[in-house]
Amino acid sequence: MNSLFESIPFAENPLYENIIADILSKQYSIIDNFFTSEEVLALRQSLLYKYEEDTFKKSAIGNRTNEVIKKAIRGDIILWIDEDRANNAETMFFNKINDLKDYLNRTCFLGINQKEFHYAIYPEGTFYKRHLDTFQNDDRRKLSFVCYLNEENWKPENGGELVLYLEDVEKTIYPFPGKVVIFESQVLEHEVKPVNTPRLSITGWLKTR
Ligand code: OGA
Ligand code: MN
Repeated sequence: MNSLFESIPFAENPLYENIIADILSKQYSIIDNFFTSEEVLALRQSLLYKYEEDTFKKSAIGNRTNEVIKKAIRGDIILWIDEDRANNAETMFFNKINDLKDYLNRTCFLGINQKEFHYAIYPEGTFYKRHLDTFQNDDRRKLSFVCYLNEENWKPENGGELVLYLEDVEKTIYPFPGKVVIFESQVLEHEVKPVNTPRLSITGWLKTR
């Protein structure tokens, strides 16, 4: 008789193992080419198409924040992505996310059973001040995920660096296309520096109930 375990082969995934080791040792992980340039292109086209349809909203902080205060904290505009109505590019995106999520649950028993993702555009001159990704007494966000959809020729001078405030240093991350940054939502304060050229991304969270 076959054992149960023999019938469910489990292949270690070196990329995911690296991500897990990074997060365990330093609370974040950077993956330079999580998405291929073709995948980035498809996601960027999807973002721009929806932007032209005018469905993006100015982001909110909490729910009763006044517009002036909000603009002084963050200036991006966002659009939540509905997995149930995903287009081809978004389906590819969620397939990759779900694969990673399932691996994390299987190997680290994280118990992630919810997720939320949105497109984000930072127009010229906007930023997002230093913050934690836990709002309104909501501690369900466990892992933050950012993926950059900028053009191939993105340059450091374009601004919009993500800065992670680690215990003793600041880690500066340039938003090059295809790069993914994953970090612990409840512990790592971070900031998006002012942008000189419109900056495109998808941001999201893996959550527990
Ligand atoms: C956020 C955020 C970081 C980035 O949307 O909460 O911190 O690099 N984004 O876009
Ligand atoms: Mn954030």
